[in-house]
Amino acid sequence: MSGIVQRQCVVRSCEETAEQTFLLTFDSREIAARALPGQFVNVQVDGTTGSCLLRRPFSISRIHGDIVELLFNVVGPGTLILSRKKRGDEINVLGPLGHPFHLDSDYDTALLVGGGLGVAPFPFLTTALLARGKRVRTFVGFRSKRQKCIAHMRNVRVATDDGSEGFPGTVVQLLEKFFCDRGGEKAKIFACGPTKMLKALTELAQQYSICCELSLEGQMACGIGICQGCPVERADGRPGYALVCKDGPTFMATDVKL
Ligand SMILES: Cc1cc2nc3c(=O)[nH]c(=O)nc-3n(C[C@H](O)[C@H](O)[C@H](O)COP(=O)(O)OP(=O)(O)OC[C@H]3O[C@@H](n4cnc5c(N)ncnc54)[C@H](O)[C@@H]3O)c2cc1C
Ligand code: FES
Repeated sequence: MSGIVQRQCVVRSCEETAEQTFLLTFDSREIAARALPGQFVNVQVDGTTGSCLLRRPFSISRIHGDIVELLFNVVGPGTLILSRKKRGDEINVLGPLGHPFHLDSDYDTALLVGGGLGVAPFPFLTTALLARGKRVRTFVGFRSKRQKCIAHMRNVRVATDDGSEGFPGTVVQLLEKFFCDRGGEKAKIFACGPTKMLKALTELAQQYSICCELSLEGQMACGIGICQGCPVERADGRPGYALVCKDGPTFMATDVKL
């Protein structure tokens, strides 16, 4: 099934799962049936407040039955409003949007690398990879253990900036250590997180000649390729800019200039 729908959806739950991190679930048989890992939804958090008229994009974190899960950080007015939703409230949701991750290329081990709430799409992605018989290893980085969220992920290694849990340092340094200690697997990297992290990861992947697919989370407005508000410079030989919402959010690391 494919195609974008816009629906008024009923919130099932919204709970704080880590510091300033919320898991919101809503019912939508149609979005649940259409969505693929790496796609996102654009949510109207509130139709009345000036700064929140624009929709806010969120990765589809997990699907179970007809229920769609979003995992998000409170960073401003839109996410604050969303974090206060209660069971029975309604939100207007547009989706699923964007291109999913490419799961079927030639690799045995999927290395999922996430920084902060870049981990949001990993539960959905993990389920799909395991169903394809891939081995999944997950590397996640947070500022401190208070922000850690790793539910529904597999073989997780944690890095924290403040050293409060796991590897003290960045998630890219943690992955580099893994390559030095282990390596030898036919791997593909799937990554999502801040641009600085994705840049460093792209360089590491090139150094080790590992295929790397990124999900970009730049600022967005319309989410469907109309406003031209989410450009990313191409590095795939074509001139100009791609749009994160329409041409992504997933891109091969070698196809974009961050
Ligand atoms: C495709 C896509 C998927 C996303 N998935 C998730 C997700 O699963 N979970 C999640 O927590 N967030 C996700 N985001 C980011 C999320 O959309 C923003 O955090 C949200 O829109 C902020 O809204 P706000 O009104 O709370 O804050 P705003 O007032 O819009 O912004 C508050 C501060 O955060 C900065 N900011 C806003 N959006 C972004 C962004 N995209 N990247 C970097 N800085 C930003 C602003 O510059 C500002 O400093 C995603 C973004 C995209 C484009
Ligand atoms: S957000 Fe409008 S074109 Fe991408």
